[in-house]
Amino acid sequence: MATKKKSGTKIVAPSSMGRKTAAMMIEPAKGKLGVMVVGLGAVATTMIAGVEAVRRGLAKPIGSLTQMGTIRLGKRTDNHSPLIKDFVPLADLKDIVFTGWDIFEDNVYEAAAHAAVLDTDTLKKLKPYLQRIKPMPAVFDQYYVKRLNGTHVKKGKNKRDLAEQLRADIRAFKKTVDRVVMIWAGSTEIFLKPTAVHQSIAAFEKGLEKNDPGIAPSQIYAYAALKEGVPFANGAPNLTVDVPAMIELSKQNAAPICGKDFKTGQTFMKTVLAPAFKARMIGVKGWFSTNILGNRDGEVLDEPQSFKTKEESKLGSLEYIFQPDLYPDLYSDIYHKIRINYYPPRGDEKEAWDNIDIFGWLGYPMQLKVNFLCRDSILAAPIALDLVLFLDLAKRTPELRSLGIQEWLSFYWKSPQTAKGLYPEHDLFIQSMKLKNTLRHIMGADLITHLGLEYYD
Ligand SMILES: NC(=O)c1ccc[n+]([C@@H]2O[C@H](COP(=O)([O-])OP(=O)(O)OC[C@H]3O[C@@H](n4cnc5c(N)ncnc54)[C@H](O)[C@@H]3O)[C@@H](O)[C@H]2O)c1
Repeated sequence: MATKKKSGTKIVAPSSMGRKTAAMMIEPAKGKLGVMVVGLGAVATTMIAGVEAVRRGLAKPIGSLTQMGTIRLGKRTDNHSPLIKDFVPLADLKDIVFTGWDIFEDNVYEAAAHAAVLDTDTLKKLKPYLQRIKPMPAVFDQYYVKRLNGTHVKKGKNKRDLAEQLRADIRAFKKTVDRVVMIWAGSTEIFLKPTAVHQSIAAFEKGLEKNDPGIAPSQIYAYAALKEGVPFANGAPNLTVDVPAMIELSKQNAAPICGKDFKTGQTFMKTVLAPAFKARMIGVKGWFSTNILGNRDGEVLDEPQSFKTKEESKLGSLEYIFQPDLYPDLYSDIYHKIRINYYPPRGDEKEAWDNIDIFGWLGYPMQLKVNFLCRDSILAAPIALDLVLFLDLAKRTPELRSLGIQEWLSFYWKSPQTAKGLYPEHDLFIQSMKLKNTLRHIMGADLITHLGLEYYD
């Protein structure tokens, strides 16, 4: 039996005896978890302020699977579904300590006020705490994000020097906490493809020395994190860790990595609807997706080279879900178009429209329209929090920490990362099952297959 004690209660997971040691080998979440956030903009400040609001009992962590989600253990008749955070040893919110980098000097209070996601009343209550979090100077180069220009930036003789400065920041922070995780909530960089410099650690390190243009700032942060054995999550669609050199480094230093680009609004809905059409063998002829968005992210994405990076990430999911090679009559001829329009009056309150041209029995056409009036950072903040907590768990789990890519975290990404030659799983419900079964597995509990024949014996 796998057990975990929490406030005097004991969560017991049904398991086969052979797997019980797995859970015991997970290191406990003792002490402080340091979270280093790259880019203290809308998403980051909404996460940080949100965590503090929850810690003070001012609000509930809605949207966070780690804080509100449950996990069924055993048979349906057992009625045993503890909270995930009571089942696996996750860091407690009260033990999280935030720091970060940005190209602007604003502290987190000022940055949150500028992002205008949370109302002024809430921010005022949190002001003393948020004001204390001040960004460290960033590694930045406008070549990679054309629409931004900041002055709070590190200087170095080459990219290797900049990476060393980031490593020094990480090491200094490590002295104040017990464990560290890094998450990129910085801007979307221009579209980059992997080149020779990304093929091995040695090539990458040579590239840092020679200022290779294929190495973007996000990769300098990721390299610094992985070199220091720190797990790294990438909230933007940037290339970053999606290259052999980073995967190698992640494995070598037991620093978990995962996919990229938070799956929040439109793609979240796509990965719910597309599996439903496929499950019912409904054909799809066209999928037109458009958005209006007025925050700084929208401004950055208004620039064609940054948009291209986002577009690639958003386009991928349908192709993989529909498997046109297996279902040529249904999905081989889909016109998939995505637009993001910068429209300042809306701020963070994005509006997304989808027009989906589908067809059914004997090919008769139908349409579905989705109009999602969402709030970008309200959707992204709990995802960022969950990723930080799960990556910290992965780092403490012997079976996971040296795998490199944590495919079980695909659930959170527009572009899940997978082993070479393996197609990514985009279906949200398969991703959710994979995530929960991974948690059961590392805790030595029985997996849930949903077979259920035993109820009819
Ligand atoms: N909000 C969502 O729903 C969502 C979904 C998926 C992905 N994302 C991505 O998350 C990222 C953050 O989104 P946001 O709305 O918070 O954007 P934002 O523009 O409000 O914040 C980004 C911050 O990163 C900083 N920055 C840029 N380059 C940096 C660097 N090299 N080092 C340090 N700081 C740097 C900027 O100064 C800014 O403060 C974007 O890339 C966005 O595309 C957001």
